Amino acid sequence: MTIPEQLERHIDEIITHYPPDRKRAAVLWLCHLLQEHFGFLGHEQVQWIAGKLGLQPIHVWELVTFYPMFTTQPRGKFHIKVCRTLSCHLAGAPALLERLKNLDPTLFTVSTVECLALCGSGPAMMINDETFERVTPEKLDAILQRLQTTGRLDAQPLPPPQPAHPLETRVLLANITKPDYTGSLADYEREGGYQALRKALTMKPEDILAEVKNSELRGRGGAGFPCGLKWSFLAKNTGKPTYLICNADESEPGTFKDRQLIQYDPHLLIEGILISCLATGAKTAYIYIRGEMPLSAKILQRAIAEARAKGYVGRGVEIYVHRGAGAYICGEETGLIESLEGKRAYPRIKPPFPAVVGLFGCPTVVNNVETLCNIPHIVNRGAAWYRTLGVPGSTGTRLVCVSGPVQRPGYYEFEMGKLTMRQLIEDVCGGVKGGRKIKGVIPGGSSMPVLPADKLDVALDFESLRKAGTMAGSGGIIVLTEDVDIVDATLNVSQFYAHESCGQCTPCREGTLWMEKMLHRIKAGHGRPEDVDLLFEVADNIDGKTICPLGEAAAWPVKAFLKNFRSEFEAACKKNGNGSSHE
Ligand SMILES: Cc1cc2nc3c(=O)[nH]c(=O)nc-3n(C[C@H](O)[C@H](O)[C@H](O)COP(=O)(O)O)c2cc1C
Ligand code: SF4
Ligand code: FES
Repeated sequence: MTIPEQLERHIDEIITHYPPDRKRAAVLWLCHLLQEHFGFLGHEQVQWIAGKLGLQPIHVWELVTFYPMFTTQPRGKFHIKVCRTLSCHLAGAPALLERLKNLDPTLFTVSTVECLALCGSGPAMMINDETFERVTPEKLDAILQRLQTTGRLDAQPLPPPQPAHPLETRVLLANITKPDYTGSLADYEREGGYQALRKALTMKPEDILAEVKNSELRGRGGAGFPCGLKWSFLAKNTGKPTYLICNADESEPGTFKDRQLIQYDPHLLIEGILISCLATGAKTAYIYIRGEMPLSAKILQRAIAEARAKGYVGRGVEIYVHRGAGAYICGEETGLIESLEGKRAYPRIKPPFPAVVGLFGCPTVVNNVETLCNIPHIVNRGAAWYRTLGVPGSTGTRLVCVSGPVQRPGYYEFEMGKLTMRQLIEDVCGGVKGGRKIKGVIPGGSSMPVLPADKLDVALDFESLRKAGTMAGSGGIIVLTEDVDIVDATLNVSQFYAHESCGQCTPCREGTLWMEKMLHRIKAGHGRPEDVDLLFEVADNIDGKTICPLGEAAAWPVKAFLKNFRSEFEAACKKNGNGSSHE
């Protein structure tokens, strides 16, 4: 096996992004690069990577077999990955998979993939590194035909940014639709970019921290934890470096907001990271980005290079892009840290929290992309201004993403608490297509309990959604209409969590599979009358009994679907005469 000189130079450069005694952290990058070059990761590739990083081959094998993006066998020239997760499933992914049967395996490898963060324009799929949106069976036929005749895969252009709706208040998305705005450094600076960094450089770290605390900014990754408070928990005087990690894993089904910020305004994120590093004392930041977002990773790398050339990055603070390789659990902050260290993404038991023992055993802050994009605005315009946006307890704006059969699915930015779910769906998204009624709405990614149709007048903020029995979560809103088979939707969601469970804890590993199996049999009409209660009990026995919150993420939607739509599960159980055949 020969590694081209240029590739090895690139690899050597990547390894310098990590501390010399933590070279293992480069392993996912090396796996990506060798797989891109050789098409797969076999014994020779694994041996080479292990040798390069001073690891045992088993340390590489355990990753190759954990992360879904890696393969030990050569694939067809074109690897087609169809998203099978809820929004795409409801938008027609099964018909695409049907169409993809019986293709020439030397040319095509077909597989499913979990949510690609393109839910508003589903069904979505990837072919090699290219993404395709709103794929109809006809469009798919044309794509296949072209690949077969030309043997070439064309680069897919980025879609133009979505124009603002009059009801939106765009702060984070303010730049992206300005005339001729490309997201380049020059364009960003033209619109006032990096002024906040200049201001922050004149401030004491504790003053930046105080400003962020006073803004009452809450994390946008899912849990809504106050950002400034989290920063203040960082262990001090440890003699160890502090790290900042930007969580760009965006893998919660229904969520596609961070992708937009990265694609259309990467310097906003970079500026946010730089200021956050000044406030927390971090000298190195990693952006952990989903492996399935290769274009976004390139956009970030290009933007970081621009910012380095201009002296924003590299003088005091370094920023590196770290690519994941599939696996939803890499979004959970301690799973992410393990993954960044070059291991399987097994979440850690907390405490200790990352603020004390995080990346490489050092104090670490993990923040979501959207959270960090708020920072330059807070520093520029002050905490008092920020608090004028939104409502007490939910200050600022929030990016929400809407998928499902509405007239205008997509991403929107609103002052929190100033709009109800009904206004969002009816006024902003133009209502449901074909005049269908709404059955329920998932308000914050598929982990969050469904809101039944009679609760749509809830305001979109952390507290109101909590009082309504659910949570704001990741801002991924999935609209379920009257024609949606809730048993089928619950099965789809459960398949996701069963697939994504890392397997460390028994209730999650066994319980998610058990729920999936029961839902299969209920959907097939072979459910027993007692299965409805048993399903709830299994979900309840996962809830709160696991190392990380993926357990709750798997249990909550099932419990909420059962609570709100019990009769559908009961009817499905009766379909074939009460359990005539059991799996
Ligand atoms: C299973 C699971 C998946 C998660 N996925 C993501 C994700 O894709 N992106 C994200 O920012 N946070 C995700 N989170 C939340 C992170 O653990 C963490 O709370 C967040 O990145 C902190 O950033 P914030 O305080 O700015 O919200 C996930 C949590 C869990 C339990
Ligand atoms: S809850 Fe699930 S995903 Fe989280 S650590 Fe346990 S097995 Fe892994
Ligand atoms: S991209 Fe398919 S569900 Fe998100």
